[in-house]
Amino acid sequence: MCGIVGYIGNREAYPILIKGLQRLEYRGYDSAGVAMLNTEGTLNVFKKKGKVSELTAFVKDKDTSGNIGIGHTRWATHGEPNDVNSHPHYSQSQNLVMIHNGIIENYNAIKERLIKRGHSFLSQTDTEVLIHLIEDIKEHEGFKLGHAVLAALNQVIGAYAIVVMDKNDPNTLIAAKKGSPMVIGIGNDDYFIASDASPIVEYTKNVVYLEDEQVAIIRRGQELKIRNLKDKEITPYVQELTLELEAIEKGGYDHFMLKEIYEQPKSVRDSMRGRLNANDGEITLGGIVDHEGKFKKAKRIIFIACGTSWHAGLVGEYLFEEYARIPVEVEYASEFRYRNPIIYPDDIVIAISQSGETADTLAAIELAKAKGATIIGVCNVVGSSIPRASHGGTYTHAGPEIGVASTKAFTAQVTVLTLMALHIAKVRGTITESRYRQMLYEMESIPKKIEEVLKLNPQIKHIAEEYKDSRNALYLGRGVSFPVALEGALKLKEISYIHAEGYPAAEMKHGPIALIDEEMPVFVIATKGANYEKVVSNIQEVKARKGNIIAVVTAGDKEVKKMADYVIEIPETDETLVPLIAVVPLQLLSYHIAVMRGCNVDQPRNLAKSVTVE
Ligand code: G6P
Repeated sequence: MCGIVGYIGNREAYPILIKGLQRLEYRGYDSAGVAMLNTEGTLNVFKKKGKVSELTAFVKDKDTSGNIGIGHTRWATHGEPNDVNSHPHYSQSQNLVMIHNGIIENYNAIKERLIKRGHSFLSQTDTEVLIHLIEDIKEHEGFKLGHAVLAALNQVIGAYAIVVMDKNDPNTLIAAKKGSPMVIGIGNDDYFIASDASPIVEYTKNVVYLEDEQVAIIRRGQELKIRNLKDKEITPYVQELTLELEAIEKGGYDHFMLKEIYEQPKSVRDSMRGRLNANDGEITLGGIVDHEGKFKKAKRIIFIACGTSWHAGLVGEYLFEEYARIPVEVEYASEFRYRNPIIYPDDIVIAISQSGETADTLAAIELAKAKGATIIGVCNVVGSSIPRASHGGTYTHAGPEIGVASTKAFTAQVTVLTLMALHIAKVRGTITESRYRQMLYEMESIPKKIEEVLKLNPQIKHIAEEYKDSRNALYLGRGVSFPVALEGALKLKEISYIHAEGYPAAEMKHGPIALIDEEMPVFVIATKGANYEKVVSNIQEVKARKGNIIAVVTAGDKEVKKMADYVIEIPETDETLVPLIAVVPLQLLSYHIAVMRGCNVDQPRNLAKSVTVE
């Protein structure tokens, strides 16, 4: 969580910092702040509770000049969101300023030690403690700033991505990271620092992804220097960014979420491109080729993930059990990591994550890895921490997802998991050739079918109008559509703040049925398939209690139509591929309801896109 940016070079830093913070606002938006050092040596620090727009309004008439600076957008962990707890934070002398993403776990012990040495603190943050420690070491040991940072980080337990600026040295920024991401862009005669590449891409395509426990010494007009925490010099590995600027802009849509919903035909197609060839009957997944032997012998697969990615894991469970005939467990990473789980060396752990940075998922991977399991990553952000920590894997090619509520990442994850399950089924000989071929053709048709669903937008908007004032909502599905129900409910609650629950349709009678009355909308995935008749019975149970039914059905359905208040007809597909299509109307529905309720769709309250704290 939290977004950080830095700039050093010949341009004005402030506009670059602000634009960068706007791009990173998906990471947190409780408060924002910037610090610039001007040519007279004055350090100007401005910070404000609220969004980046509130900071820019506040800074309007102030001196923002300078060609070195740092900026931060916060998702609060230690200390409530207010002006004082906002970053950047000062050292004791106020000569040093720092921005930080992460959590310093032993900050209290360090703070007490520093208080005894005469330090006083303005905020309640762990960040302020770290910058005080850096200065304390710098002064008492007579170290240069880079070495003081290095020494301080050797005393710290926790996660960090930090950038430090010194009022008395206008030519240097020091950056370091562990467990939180950090990218350094290398321009012609300047450097750009950020939590991800989105603030950098319009200036340069040459970047260095800092590794854990590395400290970068970034000097104006000099080559980038990197040292590890053992003070060993590391040669920077410069990579070329493949990200395009248009991919991170709204492109005429009112919100990123809507743009991303509409991008799904493309993102699903991109996630299959070069991997699926239905005519030749082939699936090629380069990142798991070396692990096929393991899959062949695997007695168990464990999916670990959080949030929407966990829902994709539940779909994956269904697909791997159905096709590859491998038993699957789906785990919340946060539960798994603290449970002393039983992990065997022949287990395959598939970690699913859009950002590739979720702290709990990363920690769960490390745990499983230490016990000898094979780790396969399914991530969207290229070069992020989870793919780097995995033995193999397959990227989803959804493109940058900016809206905090995940949409196109989910369908891309399900796409990749489907390809993987079918491919492994082929490798294990658990699927017939004809079924396999049929599935490949069906997969190829999915993007077109999503396009058809998107055409239903006006009808879905009309349904949203009807239910926008609901206080509660229930989402029901069975089999592979149960995770779709969970995902539909999550979308509604996270962006429109309506309480919603997803349930396996048959479980409804063990509790939620008590809530049903004429006020309660019940969204049901009732597409054709083995469970159809059963779901129809569940719909009748709701109707008998005067509940409202909004059903997602297969085009041409007659039976549910007779009972439901509204039906949303989606194109027919193989039963196991329904999640890829059925989730789309639910995403649109939540989007419209949230807009109608005046909610901030792209930045829902209290949430963040990339959860780099546990
Ligand atoms: C946050 C986001 C969710 C996301 C979850 C897992 O809660 O708001 O949209 O599903 O983290 O993130 P990941 O990047 O690991 O998929």
